[in-house]
Parts: sequence; structure tokens; C-alpha cells
Amino acid sequence: MSELGLGTMTILKHGENEARNILETAIQSGIRHIDTADVYARHEVERVIGETLGQERKNLFLASKGGNELTEDGMRWNPIPSYLDAALEGSLERLQTDYLDLYYIHGGTLEDDLDATIEWAKKQKRDGLIRRIGLSSIRPNVIKHWAASGALDVLMTPYSLLDRRPETLDVSIPIVGRGALAKGLLTDEGATRLGDKGFEAWRKEELASELSMMPEPVQAYALEAAKRFCDVVLPGASSVKQLNETIHAFETEVDEEVLDRLLARLPIHPYTKHVT
Ligand SMILES: NC(=O)c1ccc[n+]([C@@H]2O[C@H](COP(=O)([O-])OP(=O)(O)OC[C@H]3O[C@@H](n4cnc5c(N)ncnc54)[C@H](OP(=O)(O)O)[C@@H]3O)[C@@H](O)[C@H]2O)c1
Repeated sequence: MSELGLGTMTILKHGENEARNILETAIQSGIRHIDTADVYARHEVERVIGETLGQERKNLFLASKGGNELTEDGMRWNPIPSYLDAALEGSLERLQTDYLDLYYIHGGTLEDDLDATIEWAKKQKRDGLIRRIGLSSIRPNVIKHWAASGALDVLMTPYSLLDRRPETLDVSIPIVGRGALAKGLLTDEGATRLGDKGFEAWRKEELASELSMMPEPVQAYALEAAKRFCDVVLPGASSVKQLNETIHAFETEVDEEVLDRLLARLPIHPYTKHVT
């Protein structure tokens, strides 16, 4: 049985009050898996989560991520253990907790000293600061290295009807799937959200045509497809209204045969980069 989690990357889009309302609505609705990262809104999302959860924290499964070091005008990738020490300490402090249920390394490439990062994560787990080790990655070659280490407890990767690449991964590690709503394309708003660039491997025109053929309610089918593949389905929301629509869609039964036919029709685009 797949679980619904809350992705918090965009909760501050309409201000701090709405962010707190999203978190409170999620908890009142029974969502337990709360996902964040130190870089979301440059530490602010973690701070708001820490201030909002209070006593509820102990009933929740709290995940965060590190490895992107904030700079004056953006961020830079930094998987060096001494930096990760500081990053994890900062996350724990802002989230007002002594431990994280899951801590992801927030990316990485084969050029990193991956084994040093993996050893660092194993030490945090031994020390009790984190309970599970995660990797958030879209690079098959990096995922393969981590999976082979035996240390990886959870893989976060994008997965949706419009991005089925992870179906080609050969790993047997619990998956937290982000992006099930394809940034809102797989909701009632559908193609009104389509920009000129298309989405992932889809060109604008072919995607507009595909979206017009999606079964209704599309959000329920999108989430059901993600449930079939992911252990945790992690949609994002920037308003309480969106979150409520997602919770409703997650609980809506769809016609499994219609979904079977949809999945048989939709392409599984291959990974084109960072394969070997
Ligand atoms: N590398 C990583 O580790 C990484 C990267 C990205 C995300 N994540 C995690 O995964 C979570 C989900 O990722 P995501 O935000 O890319 O995925 P998503 O669930 O596909 O997209 C969420 C967005 O879809 C729109 N949306 C949601 N419900 C809607 C509704 N009912 N009607 C219309 N639009 C709706 C909103 O966009 P608007 O805000 O534009 O309205 C919302 O911010 C994030 O919050 C974060 O926790 C991790």
C-alpha cells in the first residue's frame, strides 16, 4: 500500500500563513510523511515547518535533504563530509528536532567521492541523527553506485504518467516518487499550465494532445499510477485548496482497466543522460 506524503518545496509561495495552514491541513488529514530540504526558500521552509509542528513532530515521519550549499546568489553542490555535518546540524536546528526519519543526499555526480558521502551518511545513522539514508537523484549511474553500496534505504526520484523513466531502473529500494502531478499538468488545470518548452521529454504539441485524451479525473489517475510504482507518493502544494484536491484525488477510486490501457499507451521515455 502506497502512502501519501506532503512535499513542501512550494508551501511558502503564498506566504507564511498559507504554509502553516498547508502543514496543519496535512496533519489533520492524516498525512504523516513530510518532505523538505534545507534549500527550499533558502532555509525558510525548514524554519516554518519546525515552528509549526511542535508536539506533533514525534508522530510524524520527517525527511530533509542536504548537499546544496547556499551562496550569495544561488547554491553550489557540496557533498564534502565536513559541509554535510554543518548542513545536517542546520536542518535539525531549524526543524527543532534531534533526529530525522530520513535524510537524503540531495543529488551528486560520479565525479564526487561518492563512497566518502556514503560513509558519512552511515555514520549519521549509527549516531542516531538520521534513521534512514536517502538519495535524491535522477542519474541512473549515481543511483546504481549508491544501490550497490548496500547503504541506501530510500530513493527519491521523479515519477509520473509523463515521466516513467524510473520503471527502467533495476533497483529494489523503496521509492519516494516526487512530481506525480507533473507540476500541475496532471490536475484539472491541465494544459493551461503548459509552457512553450513542453515537459521533460514531451514537446508542447504532443503533450497538449495527450493531456486532452487523459481519463477524468486526471489527478486521481495520475496519483493511482504513482501509487502502483512508488512506496510514498509525494505531491507538492502551494495552497490548502491544492492540497485538499490532492487528498481527495488520492482517495478517489479509478477504473484500473482504464489505467492499464493508459499505461500501455503512454511512452516510457528512456534515460538519455548519466546512464553509464
Ligand atoms: N531533487 C529533489 O529532491 C526534489 C526536487 C523537486 C521536488 N522535490 C520534493 O517533491 C515534492 C513534489 O515535487 P513537485 O513540486 O515537483 O511535484 P508536483 O506534485 O508534480 O507539483 C506540485 C505543484 O503542482 C501544482 N499543483 C498541485 N496541486 C494542484 C492542483 N490541485 N491544481 C493545480 N495545480 C496543482 C502546484 O504548482 P503551483 O505552485 O505552480 O501552483 C504545486 O506546487 C516537493 O514539494 C519536494 O518536497 C524534491
